[in-house]
Amino acid sequence: MSTHTRTRRLTIPQLVAMKGQQKIVSLTAYSSTIAQVIDPLVDFILVGDSTAMVGYGRPSTLGMRLDETIAHTRAVVDSTRLACVIADMPFGSYQESHEQAFRNCAQVLASSGCDAVKLEANQALASTIEFLVARGIPVMAHIGLMPQFVNAMGGYKAQGMSEDSAATLRADAQANLHAGAFSLLLEGVAEPVARAITEASAKPTIGIGASPTCDGQVLVTEDLLGLGSAHVPRFVKQYADVGRVIREACGRYAQEVRNGTFPTLQHCYGV
Ligand code: KIV
Repeated sequence: MSTHTRTRRLTIPQLVAMKGQQKIVSLTAYSSTIAQVIDPLVDFILVGDSTAMVGYGRPSTLGMRLDETIAHTRAVVDSTRLACVIADMPFGSYQESHEQAFRNCAQVLASSGCDAVKLEANQALASTIEFLVARGIPVMAHIGLMPQFVNAMGGYKAQGMSEDSAATLRADAQANLHAGAFSLLLEGVAEPVARAITEASAKPTIGIGASPTCDGQVLVTEDLLGLGSAHVPRFVKQYADVGRVIREACGRYAQEVRNGTFPTLQHCYGV
């Protein structure tokens, strides 16, 4: 098992300084249970808006609400002490104006105690990132396949597959770095494009369906545990089938309750 040797929570500047020194490891968490288990294993925990799908069974990430983001991020911060915690800003909470973005990001930071926020940000959002960073809010910029654009994209599609799309991605990366993003998250990006962006960036890139050369990797924890949806994207490696373990254990429990072998007097008080 690969753990780190840290005794205090990693800070954002320390995370940035890992570029070129060691690979950055990240997983998602939205509950106390998962957060406690992964805290000694990862460098940062992402409270992704994938919570809408994984935790609430909604069809996309678009329905995630700000109060839900705050509650889940608070639970993760309160249950951990080593990994830095980054909250994914929900759709509609930062796109309207610089002021709206600042108000909502500040509320997430102040109410949850997390270290930074992540925004899905093409070039059009770069000025918002600049506004937030100038006011003390560390921002990770998510580019490439941006799930909050699912309706505009007509589905979840890898980006950077044509020369035009690759040029757009390189420009998105540059604009967000110039605006002060401390890191880029590259999702569903053609490998050569992700590699080129990583090589050109002084700040760490975190890949998911991007490139092994990215400075770090992130996965949705439930996907690698085999607890995700029936459709497993190409970029997921399933490390365990925890769904089967849960089915077997809960199935045995159900059987024993039905046939009267659980509980026994050993599980009762005052016997
Ligand atoms: O919401 C999320 O979990 C994410 C990851 C897929 C990167 O943004």
